[in-house]
This record gives sequence, C-alpha cells and structure tokens, in this order.
Amino acid sequence: MRSVDEIIGEAREILSRKGVNLSILEGGTERGLTILRNREVLDSIGIKMRVIGDIEPSLSSKFLGRKISMPVMPAPLSGLVKSVDARCFHRIIKESWDAGVVPWIGYPIQDDVESFEQPFVWIIKPMKDRDKIYQEIERAEKSKALAVGIDIDSAAGIKVGKSVIAYGGMKALSKKELEDIASTTKLPFIVKGVLSEKDYYDASSFSDAVVISNHGGRVIDSAVSPLEILANVEKVVETGVDSGFRYGSDVLKALALNADFVLIGRPVVYALAFENGLKEILEVIGEELKRIMVLTGFKEVGEINREAVIF
Ligand SMILES: Cc1cc2nc3c(=O)[nH]c(=O)nc-3n(C[C@H](O)[C@H](O)[C@H](O)COP(=O)(O)O)c2cc1C
Repeated sequence: MRSVDEIIGEAREILSRKGVNLSILEGGTERGLTILRNREVLDSIGIKMRVIGDIEPSLSSKFLGRKISMPVMPAPLSGLVKSVDARCFHRIIKESWDAGVVPWIGYPIQDDVESFEQPFVWIIKPMKDRDKIYQEIERAEKSKALAVGIDIDSAAGIKVGKSVIAYGGMKALSKKELEDIASTTKLPFIVKGVLSEKDYYDASSFSDAVVISNHGGRVIDSAVSPLEILANVEKVVETGVDSGFRYGSDVLKALALNADFVLIGRPVVYALAFENGLKEILEVIGEELKRIMVLTGFKEVGEINREAVIF
C-alpha cells in the first residue's frame, strides 16, 4: 500500500507533466502562513499509547443519520478541479461511495447536479444574489443531494497568492439571512467555514452540521487552525473539521478533540490523478487510523476522547 505522501508525490509529477496549473489548486493566501500553522498545530499534538487491552477496532461512523465506513470524507471542491479530470465530480461521488463515505461537492460546478446518480452533500457559495442561492437550493432538492450548505468563509472570495477569485460576487451573510436560507429547505443544512467560537454557536443554532475550517488556508493568511477553535467549544451539532488533515494520526487528533468527522481537500485533487485514487487515499487514511486505534486502546471511533492526546 502506498502512503499518503507517496500518492501525493507521484500525483504532483503526473499532474505537472499533464500541464495542470498546480499552484492554483494547492496554493494558499498570500504568504501561506495559514497552511503552515495548520500543519504546525497538528504536529504539536502528541498521542498517548494505551496498549494493554484486546482491541479489534471498527471505523464505522454516522453522518446525518447515515452509516459511513469511516469518519473521513472528501471536502467540497469547486469546478477548478475540472483541470485535473473533466469527470471529477462523477468520480468523486462514485469513488467515495465505493469507499463507503458520503461525497461532498463544491461550487460552482458546470455539471448538471441532477445527473449525479448517487447521494452527495452540496456546498454552495454565499452569493450576493440571494435568488441564485434559492435557485440552487431548489436544484439540490430535485437532485440526489442529501444535504445542502454554504461555505460562509468564501464571503470575500478565495485568495490564492495575491489573486482573488470572486465567483461572480459573494458577501458575508448575516445570521438572519442564513437562518432564512436554512429554513427554506427541507434538506439538512450545513454551515462550512466557521473559525471562531461565536460563529460556531451562531451557526449551530440553525444547522444540522457545522464544519470548522479555514478553507485550507485559501481565504485569509495567519488564520488559527480549526483545532484551536474545536478545542474551545462545547459541541452542539454534528461537527466536522478540515484544513491540513492528511494522515490517520491527524484524524485521531481531531476525534480526540471531539470532532465527529474530518474532511480532506487537496488530497482529493491529487487522488484524481489515479484511477480509483480517491478510494485508495481514503482506505490508506482509514487503515492508518485503525492501526493507531489499536495502539491507543479505542474499539469505536465514538470512544476516542481527549485523554488520547496532549494538546
Ligand atoms: C482546489 C480547491 C477548490 C475548493 N473549492 C471549494 C468549494 O467550492 N467550496 C468549499 O466549501 N470549499 C472549497 N475548497 C476548500 C475545501 O473544501 C477544504 O475546506 C480545504 O481544501 C481543506 O483543506 P486541505 O486542502 O488542506 O485538506 C476548495 C479547496 C481547494 C484546494
């Protein structure tokens, strides 16, 4: 089995040879300090071993009431990823389900959302044009989407290096606006991109799930790591984290700090360089997590708690 780092290394070579613009896919805002901090915070957390016991761990988890094979899912990615594979969204959906987890899809996407054959989570943008948001939610409801959400941290666009991608105009949405949007859909509603205690509690009051994230360091430089916020909140709704998570040990650290699930972003971009690459990378991370659970004495992912780490 290849390691995550080997998959990423080989994928970068393949994609560079294909002429894919890697810098726009993997870059971060301005000096890239957020990306560095995401890694530094994860690496600063130590895992305690607890090996006396007879452990056969299970990764089985739940997400919005559905059983999933492990608490790791692909983060929503935008149409930018089409430069890697024009059929990326169909592949992300299929390969996620092949690995037993729920696929998340970003925005904008040129694919006909209605043509996706298996369920998915659809994260749309906080567009200035409110009617457009409602139209997209209507499309979601007519499709196989199992939940819909908004990445509120795109409010000022995505900034890679010094270039801002505005996707036709976005805005910061007020709590009232978000409540209104959430209440118009019968689908579960998700807020992605909270990075403060206040936003976490505000978003939790009208959402079914919240993702604490700094958008993988693509919206602001010098952001805190999502784990620094996760560690400070009392969990209210299903809570995920993303931004910099790569290894089974990273996932264990998030679960120890009370996350329910972890999303991986750029690893999905790299995985798309290989046929069934997404399924492979999810399985590698799952195997790593299972191995660490043997060594930390956890039989179920739901049992993993703060005692497992020093933070
Ligand atoms: C190329 C690319 C496109 C992205 N597009 C979206 C998007 O459309 N919607 C969204 O919510 N997040 C988007 N994200 C952010 C990811 O969902 C996720 O928050 C981030 O990549 C996690 O950090 P990681 O890449 O270090 O794992 C995108 C990220 C990348 C790298």
